[in-house]
Amino acid sequence: MDQIIVTGNGPLSGQIPIAGAKNACLTLMPATLLSEEPLTLTNAPRLSDIRTMTTLLQSLGAEVQSLQDGQVLAMSSHDLTSTRAEYDIVRKMRASILVLGPLLARFGHAEVSLPGGCAIGARPVDLHLKAFEAMGAELELRDGYVHAKAPVGGLRGGIVEFPFVSVGATENALMAATLAKGTTVLMNAAREPEIVDLAQCLQKMGAQIDGEGTSEITVQGVDRLGGATHRVVTDRIELGTYMLAPAICGGEVECLGGTINLLAAFCEKLDAAGISVEETPNGLKVARKGGRVSAVDVTTEPFPGFPTDLQAQMMALLCTAEGTSVLEEKIFENRFMHAPELIRMGASIDVHGGTATVKGVDHLKGAPVMATDLRASVSLILAGLAAEGETVVSRVYHLDRGYEHVVRKLEGVGAKIERVKEQ
Ligand code: EPU
Repeated sequence: MDQIIVTGNGPLSGQIPIAGAKNACLTLMPATLLSEEPLTLTNAPRLSDIRTMTTLLQSLGAEVQSLQDGQVLAMSSHDLTSTRAEYDIVRKMRASILVLGPLLARFGHAEVSLPGGCAIGARPVDLHLKAFEAMGAELELRDGYVHAKAPVGGLRGGIVEFPFVSVGATENALMAATLAKGTTVLMNAAREPEIVDLAQCLQKMGAQIDGEGTSEITVQGVDRLGGATHRVVTDRIELGTYMLAPAICGGEVECLGGTINLLAAFCEKLDAAGISVEETPNGLKVARKGGRVSAVDVTTEPFPGFPTDLQAQMMALLCTAEGTSVLEEKIFENRFMHAPELIRMGASIDVHGGTATVKGVDHLKGAPVMATDLRASVSLILAGLAAEGETVVSRVYHLDRGYEHVVRKLEGVGAKIERVKEQ
């Protein structure tokens, strides 16, 4: 297994290119299952989660060609051979559940293994299933699989009211509704940029969708969808992660491809902490010129609130802020696993349930630490960039799920970072 070694050093400067969004790509890929015609995605990120989704689609008989060094995915679901997503692949990644809606809508039946829990929380899929029931599907849980069947004649439009916001359930229901008979209204829908990106791609394929980006999405079902070519939206979480690098180490970095509207709540918190963010023709320029940053309180919320996927990285910044910050995690019940690792580096953090109180210390010290999930792992790298001495991060396979070329990107702005085989 590989490790990443980071040595704390001075200010960073330069540019970091930001890739297409993992979480948009993971819902755009299953959209290919809705149509017989090809769907091509450009600006795809090169990540292990994308390779897992590729394997899953191929196991159903879809063609997925990775072109231009993985940045273009040319897909066709013309000759699907199966509507069953097997446990062996689904267990590797929860987003696998996103094949259920498209398969059910196009073929009238599907069997998908239940994904199970994961390190950041239980993460059930009940809201996905309730949405399909509202469209007339019959569902049965048997042998660890969801067996879903549409009524004769296919899914019907219906009213789907989500009791709370779910990104994945909104995506799954939206894809299914495009081919349902009649009108579907998704109420309390997620408003994330990845949902808007999915809706825009589906519209190019011929879907009739209104209200994407608001909490009420209306879909008029059509008989069939065609092909399309679509550019994956910028990864706002990768963007926010790299914006924190100069915020933590000092200096000035331009993140290429970002806009403030993808991360408005996050940018407000950076401003309150004393970090300047400026929109440029090519992206966002982030600078920290003064001394220590100021403490700020953060509560994670669905978009447009502060994203849960940036909570760990923000905590890394606040470990050395002047004053005490309170971070509240409202989306996942177990998403502070980076805290004990940051404490190993000298941070002062108290976790009680969903609240972490971070007392800023003067500086962090390098230490051997363990990555526990994707965002936790990158928060340890960020903390290591500013710590005194060497930080060795193990279990970096988590990182490969969501960050392409992390070493190259950070080295490019002057960080001392290398990837080595574990000794
Ligand atoms: N939930 C349920 N029932 C459901 C669905 C969700 O109880 O049927 C709960 C979850 O357990 C969670 C909350 O609802 O407590 C919100 O979960 P959501 O469904 O919004 O999350 P998701 O679709 O499973 C996506 C991202 C996550 C990101 C969340 C929140 C993808 C592939 N994943 O997950 O990304 O944290 O939305 O924004 O889009 C990451 O990239 O590191 C990551 C975890």
